[in-house]
Amino acid sequence: MDSILVRGNGALNGVIPIAGAKNACLTLMPATLLTEEPLTLTNAPRLSDIATMTQLLRSLGAEVAALQDGQVLALSSHKITNHTADYDIVRKMRASILVLGPMLARDGHAVVSLPGGCAIGARPVDLHLKALEAMGADLDLRDGYVHARAPGGRLKGAVVDFPIVSVGATENALLAATLAKGTTEIRNAAREPEIVDLAQCLRRMGAQIEGEGTSTITIQGVDRLNGATHRVVADRIELGTYMLAPAICGGEVECLGGRLDLVGAFAERLDAAGVSVTETPTGLKVARRNGRISAVNVTTEPFPGFPTDLQAQMMALLCTASGVSVLEEKIFENRFMHAPELARMGARIDVHGGTATVTGVETLRGARVMATDLRASVSLILAGLAAEGETVVSRVYHLDRGYEKVEEKLRACGAQIERIKG
Ligand code: UD1
Repeated sequence: MDSILVRGNGALNGVIPIAGAKNACLTLMPATLLTEEPLTLTNAPRLSDIATMTQLLRSLGAEVAALQDGQVLALSSHKITNHTADYDIVRKMRASILVLGPMLARDGHAVVSLPGGCAIGARPVDLHLKALEAMGADLDLRDGYVHARAPGGRLKGAVVDFPIVSVGATENALLAATLAKGTTEIRNAAREPEIVDLAQCLRRMGAQIEGEGTSTITIQGVDRLNGATHRVVADRIELGTYMLAPAICGGEVECLGGRLDLVGAFAERLDAAGVSVTETPTGLKVARRNGRISAVNVTTEPFPGFPTDLQAQMMALLCTASGVSVLEEKIFENRFMHAPELARMGARIDVHGGTATVTGVETLRGARVMATDLRASVSLILAGLAAEGETVVSRVYHLDRGYEKVEEKLRACGAQIERIKG
């Protein structure tokens, strides 16, 4: 298993291009299952999660070609030849559940393995299933699989009222509703930029959708959808992660393709901590103001609040802030596994339930640490960039799920970082 070696080396200066959003791409790709015509996605990120979704879609009969070094995905589902999403693929990636809505909507039946446990909490899929049931689906849970059928072969428009905000369940409902008979109203919908991106792509495919980006989305089902070409929105989590690099190390970094509207709440917290974020014609420029970072409190919330996917990286920054910061995790239980690893580097963190209290220290020290999930792994790299000495982060396969060319991008700004093949 590969690991990453980082040496703390002072300020970072340069330009980092931001890739297309993993989480947008993972919900856009299953949209191919809704139409016989080709769907082309540009600005796709080159990540192992995208390879997993490619594998899953191919297993269902879709053709998926990665062109231009993987930045363009040409997808085509002339016919769905297999309606079963197998456990062996689904267990690798939770987002696999997103093929359920489209298959059911197009052909009236689908069998999808339940994703199973996950390192950052229970993460059930009950809301996905309730949404499809509201649209008339008959669901049967057997042998770890959900067997779904639409009576008469077609889903029906319905009111889908989510008790809590779920990104994935909103996406599944939105995908399914495009081909349902009649009107669907999704209430308490997630408002994440990835949902807006999906709605825009589906509209290009001929779907009738209104209200994306607000908490009520209305979809008028159509009989068929057509092909389209769509550019994947910038990855706001990769953006936020690289914005933290100069915040932690000093220096100035421009994140190319970054947009303030994608990271509003996060940029506001950075500003409060003493980091300036400026819009440029090409992206966002980030620099630490004079002196030490100030402690700030952070509460994770659904968009437009502070994203849970930036909580670990923000904690890395606050480890060396002056003062005490309180981080509250409101989306996932058990999402502080990076805290004991950061403590190995000299951080002072107390975790009680969903609250972590971080008492800033002057400096972190390099150590051997272990990545426990995708965002935790990059938080350890950020901490390593700011630490004295060498940090070795093991289990970086998590990192490769969500960050493309991380060593290359950071090295271009002066970081000492390399991959050790193992
Ligand atoms: C998506 C993102 C993930 C991000 C998360 C929250 C993708 C591929 N992943 O995950 O990176 O961390 O949004 O911004 O886009 N829940 C239920 N029942 C369900 C579904 C969710 O109880 O059926 C709960 C979850 O356990 C969690 C909360 O709802 O507590 C929000 O989860 P959700 O927004 O669904 O996250 P994902 O879509 O899985």
